[in-house]
Amino acid sequence: MIEAQPQAASAAPLLNDTFLRALLRQPTDHTPIWLMRQAGRYLPEYNATRARAGSFLGLAKNPDYATEVTLQPLERYPLDAAILFSDILTIPDAMGLGLEFTQGEGPSFAKPVRTEADVAALQVPDIAATLGYVTGAVAEIRRALIDGQGRQRVPLIGFSGSPWTLACYMVEGRGSSDFRTVKTMLYARPDLMHRILDVNARSVIAYLNAQIEAGAQAAMIFDTWGGALADGAYQEFSLAYIRQIVAGLIREHEGRKVPVIAFTKGGGLWLEQIAASGVDAVGLDWTVDPRAARQRVAGKVALQGSLDPSILFAPPETIRAEARRLLDAYGPEAGHVFNLGHGISQFTPPDHVISLVDEVHAYSRKQRQG
Ligand code: CP3
Repeated sequence: MIEAQPQAASAAPLLNDTFLRALLRQPTDHTPIWLMRQAGRYLPEYNATRARAGSFLGLAKNPDYATEVTLQPLERYPLDAAILFSDILTIPDAMGLGLEFTQGEGPSFAKPVRTEADVAALQVPDIAATLGYVTGAVAEIRRALIDGQGRQRVPLIGFSGSPWTLACYMVEGRGSSDFRTVKTMLYARPDLMHRILDVNARSVIAYLNAQIEAGAQAAMIFDTWGGALADGAYQEFSLAYIRQIVAGLIREHEGRKVPVIAFTKGGGLWLEQIAASGVDAVGLDWTVDPRAARQRVAGKVALQGSLDPSILFAPPETIRAEARRLLDAYGPEAGHVFNLGHGISQFTPPDHVISLVDEVHAYSRKQRQG
């Protein structure tokens, strides 16, 4: 059988570009929505694929499985973007630290970075040699997003952890409630901490640029633990490296701008400074007043957020009311991407997500008419 040569995925016109337009503060007919961790354990179909893959890493390291789970939430909900299924800890894994996920305990590293010699040995990984499964997944997802009429349904987001958030896992060797080990290094040996962060920043630049070249159409930097830093330390040990990354990224690809989003959880106090880092958009958690945030960034960047994920446990009418409240607070002007303030909980009833996505689309259309 002769198969027709498929056209390059990059040649397919983008059917729904509201997400990319909103990030660039261009007008859209509705407020786009996607959800952090939209592919995950709250979906029974995700759990079924994960069982077939044998483990979380088995899933993430296989481009066919990664593609399958990336598309699962889009089959259920009319979301406005897809996000690559992977994890932020792929980079330290590629550096040789030995990533493991133990059931119920989350991620850990066999060889955490603790000593001067450990730090000196760190190197930017060869992306093609160690992270080809990620760029392979990006390319495969782009092809899978093409509909029956040759159009790409929604854009694909690539992502990475921030240098500081990666360093937290690399030095602690696992998640932490007080970050004692990594903060001890930060205060006792700032030179070592800066060397780790510099290697991480250069790795993130190479990694995100490889994702962009493979077909990621926006890039998001997850600074999940930036909010654990003191004022002053945040600017020196996290934000400075986010700025370094933004300066090193490919900003235009396939004839389109590639917007960059930075999300520092707990970073609301530093919103103006994050907005001045060169990013196109800032992700907000639920502690931030959206109306004030709009004024504080003064049209310099788009905002993404910021619903408390726990609202998805409430009855559908409450979810719809909270969505309207947030849309009213952000206002109908260009430059808002609706999202949760952090990842969706594994205990979320999947049907509740329908109410949220539907209300955001319907009410934001109404707002623009009124
Ligand atoms: O948003 C998406 O749908 C894309 C997928 C995605 C995952 N991890 C899949 C995942 C993304 C964007 C991440 C980022 C990530 N990973 C972050 C930053 C964002 C955030 O949520 O703060 C962090 C800190 C990690 C590290 C990580 N990975 C932890 C701490 C854990 C265990 C915690 C948990 O929820 O169990 C993971 C595992 C992980 N990454 C899961 C998923 C779907 C669950 C693993 C499983 O299926 O068993």
